[in-house]
Amino acid sequence: MLNCHCFIDMIVAIGKILLIWITSAIIALVVILPIALIYWRREFAKRREKCDKNKNKIVIGFFHPYCNAGGGGERVLWSAIQAIQKKYSNVRIVVYTGDLEADPEAILNHVRRIYNIELNPIEFIYLHKRKWVEADMYPRFTLLAQSMGSMWLGFEALQALQPDIFIDTMGYAFTYPLFKYIGGCEVGSYTHYPTISTDMLKHVYRRIISHNNHRIIARNPFLSAAKITYYKLFALVYGWMGRCADIVMVNSSWTEDHINSIWKCPLKTFRVYPPCDIERLVDLPLLHDEDKGDLIRIVSVAQFRPEKNHPLMLRAMFELREILKNESLWNRIRLILIGSCRHDEDKRRVKDMEDLTKHLSLEKNVEFKLNIPYNELIRELQIGTIGLHAMWNEHFGISIVEGMAAGLIMVANNSGGPRADIIETQPTSRTGFLATDDREYAEIIANIIHMSADQRSTIKHAARASVSRFSGEQFEEEFLRATEPFFRNAKQ
Ligand SMILES: *[C@@H]1O[C@H](CO)[C@@H](O)[C@H](O)[C@H]1NC(C)=O
Ligand SMILES: *[C@@H]1O[C@H](CO)[C@@H](O)[C@H](O)[C@H]1NC(C)=O
Ligand SMILES: *[C@@H]1O[C@H](CO)[C@@H](O)[C@H](O)[C@H]1NC(C)=O
Repeated sequence: MLNCHCFIDMIVAIGKILLIWITSAIIALVVILPIALIYWRREFAKRREKCDKNKNKIVIGFFHPYCNAGGGGERVLWSAIQAIQKKYSNVRIVVYTGDLEADPEAILNHVRRIYNIELNPIEFIYLHKRKWVEADMYPRFTLLAQSMGSMWLGFEALQALQPDIFIDTMGYAFTYPLFKYIGGCEVGSYTHYPTISTDMLKHVYRRIISHNNHRIIARNPFLSAAKITYYKLFALVYGWMGRCADIVMVNSSWTEDHINSIWKCPLKTFRVYPPCDIERLVDLPLLHDEDKGDLIRIVSVAQFRPEKNHPLMLRAMFELREILKNESLWNRIRLILIGSCRHDEDKRRVKDMEDLTKHLSLEKNVEFKLNIPYNELIRELQIGTIGLHAMWNEHFGISIVEGMAAGLIMVANNSGGPRADIIETQPTSRTGFLATDDREYAEIIANIIHMSADQRSTIKHAARASVSRFSGEQFEEEFLRATEPFFRNAKQ
C-alpha cells in the first residue's frame, strides 16, 4: 500500500516538474524571445543611425572564422576582398576571424605568400567564441548544435561591429537572419558545401554506415526513422535560414543543385566558380610530340586514397595492352602515378597498388612518383599526353582543370563535377573524354594514341581555352556582378 502511494507521488512529482519545464520553455519561446528580438532590433537600428551621420564609407563585413587556414575556401575570401578593393574606393573592409593567435600583419603576410594576393589595408575583428562552432564540442546532434553555436558566434560578431553588407564565405547560414533582421544588413552568402545534403539523407534512408551515420543507428530501423525526421526538420530550418540571404553564390553545379533543393531560391542563386591557380599552367608552352621523347605518358595526379580509384587505372592499362595488340607500341606507354604519401596508411596503399601492378604484369609500364616537388610536377604535366582521373562523383576535380590547363587530354569518370562543370564532349567542341569502366577508359586511351597530332592539338587548345572560366579574373568578374546590387543599394 505504502509503496504504491510512493509510486503515485513520484509520478505526480515528475509530472509537475515536466509541466514546469514545458511551461517555462513555452514562455521563453513566445514571450522572452520576441521581446529580446524586438529589443535587439531597435538597439541595432539606433546604433546604425548614430554612426550613419558621420560616415562616408560602406562597411563590408566578411564572416570567415578560419581565415588563416590557407585552403581553397580562403582563396575565395581573399580574392573577393581584392576584387572589391579594385572596383570600389569608398569601402571599409572588415574580416571577422577566430584566429586569435595570428595578428593582422601575420595573416596578410600569409596571404601574400600562399596566394600571391596583395591587399589594401583591411581590419580584423577577433571572435572569441569560435569553439562553439567546432564539431568536437558536440558528440550528439552535431549539426544542430554547431548551427546554434554559429548563431552565438555571429552575435558576437554583430555586437563587435555592425556592417552595411555582410558576406559569409564559410557557409554559416544560421547567421543570416541575425544580420538581416537584427543587424539590418544586406546579406550575401558564398557556399562551398551545404551543411546538410540530400546525399546524407540517402545514407540514413538506406541505412549505410558512414561518418555521419553511426553503426548503431544504421542497424536500428526506429533510430533511423528518428534520424531521418531530425535531418528533414534540420533541412527545413536550414532552408529558412539560407533564404534570408539577399544574394547566394555557390561554388559548383553540385553545390548549386543541393542548395536549390534545400534553400529553394534559384532566382537569387548564382554559380560563381572559385578562382583556381592556373595562370602559371596556362602560360606553359605546349610541346610537340617530338619534344616529348619516345614515350607516350599517361599521367594521374591524385592522392593515394580509395575513392581516387587507382585500381581502375591499372585495370584500364591491362585492357589497353590487349586493345593495342602491338608490343612495340605498348613498350612506349607509361602510366605515371603522381601523389603525395604522408603517413603509414598512404604507404600501405601505395604498396597495394605496386602489388596490383605486378599482379597485372604492368611493372615495366607503370611508374610511381611520390611527393615530387612542384617544378617536377609541372614538368610531368608538360611532357604527358593524356591525363587520367578515375574518382566517381567527385564534387569538382581541380586536378582535371590543372591537367587541361597544362595541355593534357583528360579522361575522367562520367559523373559529378567533371561531367557537370569541366569536360565538354560534343565532338565539335570537345575538351576531353568521359568514361565509365576500365574497358571504356582503355578504348578511349587507344583512340587518343591513334589520333593524328592535329586532332590532339585541337582538343588540347580547346581544353586550355575552356579552363579560363575557372581563372582568377573570371571569378572577380562574376563575384562583382553578383554583388553589384548591394553597392547600388548602399549608395542611395
Ligand atoms: C566547392 O567546395 C567543396 C567543399 O570545399 C569542394 O569539395 C569542391 O571541390 C569545391 N568546388 C570547386 C569548383 O572548387
Ligand atoms: C606497332 O606500333 C609501331 C609504333 O610504335 C608502328 O611503327 C608499327 O607499325 C605497329 N605495328 C603494327 C603491326 O601495327
Ligand atoms: C564512373 O561513372 C559511372 C557513371 O556515373 C558510374 O556508373 C561508375 O560506377 C563510375 N566508375 C567508377 C569506376 O567509379
